[in-house]
Amino acid sequence: MEPEERPTIALGVTGGIACYKAVELVRLLVKEGFAVQVVMTREAMEFVTPLTFQTLSGRPVATETFSLTQESEIGHIRVADEAKLFVIAPATANIIGKIAAGIADDLLTTVLMATRAPVLIAPSMNVHMYEHPILQDNIRKLKGLGYHFMEPAEGYLACGYEGKGRLPEPEDIVEEIRRRLKKKDLIDEKLLITAGPNQEPLDPVRFISNRSSGKMGYALARIGLRRGAQVTLISGPTALPPPPGVCLVRATTAAEMREAVLQEFPQATAVLMAAAVADYHPEQPIGRKLKRAAGPIVLKLKPNPDILRELGARKNGRILIGFAAETEELVANARKKLREKNLDLIVANDVTQEGSGFESDTNVATLLDRRGTVRSLPLMSKEDLAERIFDYLLMLRAESSQ
Ligand code: C5P
Repeated sequence: MEPEERPTIALGVTGGIACYKAVELVRLLVKEGFAVQVVMTREAMEFVTPLTFQTLSGRPVATETFSLTQESEIGHIRVADEAKLFVIAPATANIIGKIAAGIADDLLTTVLMATRAPVLIAPSMNVHMYEHPILQDNIRKLKGLGYHFMEPAEGYLACGYEGKGRLPEPEDIVEEIRRRLKKKDLIDEKLLITAGPNQEPLDPVRFISNRSSGKMGYALARIGLRRGAQVTLISGPTALPPPPGVCLVRATTAAEMREAVLQEFPQATAVLMAAAVADYHPEQPIGRKLKRAAGPIVLKLKPNPDILRELGARKNGRILIGFAAETEELVANARKKLREKNLDLIVANDVTQEGSGFESDTNVATLLDRRGTVRSLPLMSKEDLAERIFDYLLMLRAESSQ
């Protein structure tokens, strides 16, 4: 992106020990393609020097209201005007109190008073301070005025206490920022998304599974949330962190996944079935650990019900999107599944291709819709593919309401 095209995030840094996490936050935001204008309070400069932020953001850090050189270089009204989003991280009890009281006695509070950008506040402090009724009152007041807050995380606090007060991890703040800046075109959708593999037990310690990492389904959940949808994510076993704000239901076997899907289906407006649902399960899982024997053993596998096909039979205005991981005859196989399962769209990918399918962060997909349109997409990240899939969903939604 050209520098002038980059959306600007104004980042207010106030004097808490979590200032060091704001350094990482700036690094991540710059990596994401944002221009970051850091504004520090005097207390924050006791923890981290402006030079650290300046080096990472590539911009002079704003610190003093009444410095003539700074005012000509940065300009406090320009900071207020150019910000797409104003983030305060970490936010102390002091800054929250000052904003709530309308005090503008330094650069940060002055710029905050002058900005029309949405403001996202990430508090960080001792648990007793956080729970103090005056602070809670200030937060309530500011929320009522349209300020956005991130809940502090729980855990070990620098003051020695355990509890709520930690600054959320920089990655989670970045995710919240992305979400705040995104157009909310999925606000009317209640998405039911499945992700990951199933594990079908053979005995108490072994199972049959597949190589699905869950990355595609989790990317769909993340992007869906960013675009304003309510998202229920039914996930097989994966190591991925659930996107903040998702309603997560865990399911191990295909039978458990089916049960969870059928329970959530009535409330959903669209279903995206990205899980690699196990097609078979061992006929009789053995109650004790299978012993090693001299000869071969024979496993008898029974088919699992096809969840998506069941949904297709009673979809009633819902949009159903399936996934097809294929190793041959990609389009023909996907088209057959689209028809047999009564889907609106199927996302097919040839898992033998480089950068496509299981475990990878990227995918090469072909989209086939119910009218017979086939669209091959180039290699892209799973998040970008999720964006394309939702664009398609909205197109199908618009068509069906005509
Ligand atoms: O038929 P196949 O398993 O290849 O179809 C893939 C699509 O069907 C995926 O969207 C997958 O989540 C879904 N599926 C299902 N129930 C199964 C198997 C697959 O819903 N038992």
